[in-house]
Amino acid sequence: MITPNKNERTILVTGTAGFIGFHVARRLLHMGQTVIGIDNLNDYYSVKLKQDRLQLLNNSQFIFEKIEREDREAVTALFAKHKPSVVIDLAAQAGVRYSLENPFSYIDSNIVGFINILEACRHHHVDHLIYASSSSVYGMNKKMPFSVEDNVDHPVSLYAATKKANELMAHTYSHLYQLPTTGLRFFTVYGPWGRPDMALFRFTKAILEGNPIDVYNHGNMKRDFTYIDDIVEGIIRLIDHPPVPNPIMGLHPGTSHAPYKIYNIGNNKPVKLLDFINAIEDKLGIRAKKKLLPMQDGDVPATYANIDDLIRDVGYKPDTSIEEGVSKFIDWYKDYYGIK
Ligand SMILES: NC(=O)c1ccc[n+]([C@@H]2O[C@H](COP(=O)([O-])OP(=O)(O)OC[C@H]3O[C@@H](n4cnc5c(N)ncnc54)[C@H](O)[C@@H]3O)[C@@H](O)[C@H]2O)c1
Repeated sequence: MITPNKNERTILVTGTAGFIGFHVARRLLHMGQTVIGIDNLNDYYSVKLKQDRLQLLNNSQFIFEKIEREDREAVTALFAKHKPSVVIDLAAQAGVRYSLENPFSYIDSNIVGFINILEACRHHHVDHLIYASSSSVYGMNKKMPFSVEDNVDHPVSLYAATKKANELMAHTYSHLYQLPTTGLRFFTVYGPWGRPDMALFRFTKAILEGNPIDVYNHGNMKRDFTYIDDIVEGIIRLIDHPPVPNPIMGLHPGTSHAPYKIYNIGNNKPVKLLDFINAIEDKLGIRAKKKLLPMQDGDVPATYANIDDLIRDVGYKPDTSIEEGVSKFIDWYKDYYGIK
């Protein structure tokens, strides 16, 4: 049962200093919700950027605790103290390529950290756990668009494997303890306050500094780039739609006999990497020097989300165009870094 008075409930958002967690927490605070935020503020990328995001969440309804998800005692104490009724778990070691360099940080954060969240949700009878999965679970799948009903047993990076593992772990908790869990497979999220390790940020920075940009697979890539506000809207709408058991489970791998559901959240409109770069160049009024390179290990050539379930269940479809989203990102980037 969802807590009846929505404004009286406490929502825990993990990874609040991160790109998506920050935007979700900010939106919830605007809605008048009480938000508990946690993050370990690790230095995978600029800690200052993470701290600056947190500054913007400064609000009497917001409580922040610097906690590491894999610290079981700290997570247990956090739940005992704040008793969240909804948990939106967005903390993780993100990034596909870094998982080839530092595999252990993915196991620590994404596997050990996630079991701590699941256990805490179980013992505190949380109404709904929403957690981040990723489009990377589709690996090299060829059938497009990617559907939650497709087989995802062939991940091509450890990052993807940890996300698929999270979905499996969530399923056991939904089955054994009737914990309602919703896994969200995000498709390449971009926008203001975005991540410095992702293409839009790296390209914008390099072009403005007059440096060449690395274009992998010689530009023959397609991504279902999804604007941050569209991701946030999808998450907000799903909060009060905890999954219900589906008795005809075997036919629908994204659902179950248990209160478990997986959704894709993507733009449903894949864009060629070179067109994406074009949108950046147009907005900046500068042509990029492109270094065409082969495909990187762990990467996939294309992503494309089937979002029929999201439309059916919460009546929502992301709709921000690349031009609009890229423009908003670059306005933010220039403002944040004081570039004229
Ligand atoms: N951004 C995307 O395009 C994208 C796509 C698919 C999936 N995802 C997933 O969405 C979630 C949010 O991604 P993001 O883009 O905001 O990444 P992010 O790196 O900006 O945010 C993650 C935050 O979690 C924190 N964190 C990491 N490990 C932690 C730990 N063990 N304990 C506490 N805090 C920890 C980090 O400090 C960071 O602030 C992640 O699970 C990511 O894997 C993101």
